[in-house]
Amino acid sequence: MDKLLSDLQAIKDRFRSEIKTVDQEQKLDALRVKLLGKKGELTAIMKNMGRLSNDDRRRLGQAANEIRQIVEKLIDEKQTEMSHRAQQEKIAAETIDISLPGKRHRVGGRHPLALMSDEICEIFLGLGYSIAEGPEIELDYYNFEMLRLPKGHPARDEQDTFYLDYESGLLLRSQTSPVQIRVMNEQKPPIYIVCPGRVYRSDAVDATHSPIFHQIEGLAVDENLSMSDLVASLELFARKLFGKDTRIRIRPHHFPFTEPSCEVDISCWTCDGNDLNCKTCHGEGFIEILGGGMVHPEVLENCNIDSKKYTGFAFGIGVERVAMGRYDVTDIRNFYENDLRFLEQFSR
Ligand code: DAH
Repeated sequence: MDKLLSDLQAIKDRFRSEIKTVDQEQKLDALRVKLLGKKGELTAIMKNMGRLSNDDRRRLGQAANEIRQIVEKLIDEKQTEMSHRAQQEKIAAETIDISLPGKRHRVGGRHPLALMSDEICEIFLGLGYSIAEGPEIELDYYNFEMLRLPKGHPARDEQDTFYLDYESGLLLRSQTSPVQIRVMNEQKPPIYIVCPGRVYRSDAVDATHSPIFHQIEGLAVDENLSMSDLVASLELFARKLFGKDTRIRIRPHHFPFTEPSCEVDISCWTCDGNDLNCKTCHGEGFIEILGGGMVHPEVLENCNIDSKKYTGFAFGIGVERVAMGRYDVTDIRNFYENDLRFLEQFSR
């Protein structure tokens, strides 16, 4: 009997120390089964009851009950402690440190050439013009033939123009002027349009040349339009874009599709003609920004517009040229290299 009691005592002591090391639900369960289960240690001792005297049986039963109660209480406490700790850990793991700097998403912006093109078109929209567009893959017929650049004209040379298929006349348009033809074929006067778009020429890349660049074509066809309407429109355009004191200079030039033709310069935005060593205009005082002229009567007739009744003027603006002036960009390649440090300056 004493042996049984001391066994019980030993079981209790061992349990007390074992439960301290338990750190998982499973291990706690295993400990419970080892002690209180059907084949557990406590059960095994109780099996001796049968051969004990009434008195001893009572003493052993009492001692066993005490132990069972202690064990169950400790297991309960352990369980509570473990679930509490698990919850604390979960909370700690899910804590958000609101003082950490956030992840920044870069916001995209419009390309400077798109901004420039929009700004130019906006000026003409204000004068009552509308926007027209044409294809970048164009036919020789629209890009050259109808604009009085006949077969053999130097501009048609494969050295200058990208042909997709020379035989069928499929090419990448070298100017936005073919849109004039497409519009006049569809629409009858009065016509007031601007056509922004990308154009292609097989030029070698340098600080002022790129095989892909952008133009804005302008076309006005109406009764009684004259060169002075062209000059006044372009002067207004230049002042809106470069400031009210801007002056323009018209120089005679030649384009096959206008007669007379001119090139238009604006007074230098850097020195206004006051610095012979000016880096922008090289002492010229003026900078060329576009070509224009009165639409050649043959071009009107090509599109079935009566050149006795109607006259027109047209112009072609180089978007890169204007943007370089406006934004003080000295190398055209900056526009195409997609260096974010360059581009981000315009999207703010
Ligand atoms: N297409 C010409 C070029 O690419 C620019 C131009 C000149 C357009 C005169 C015109 C114009 O409409 O009238 O150089």
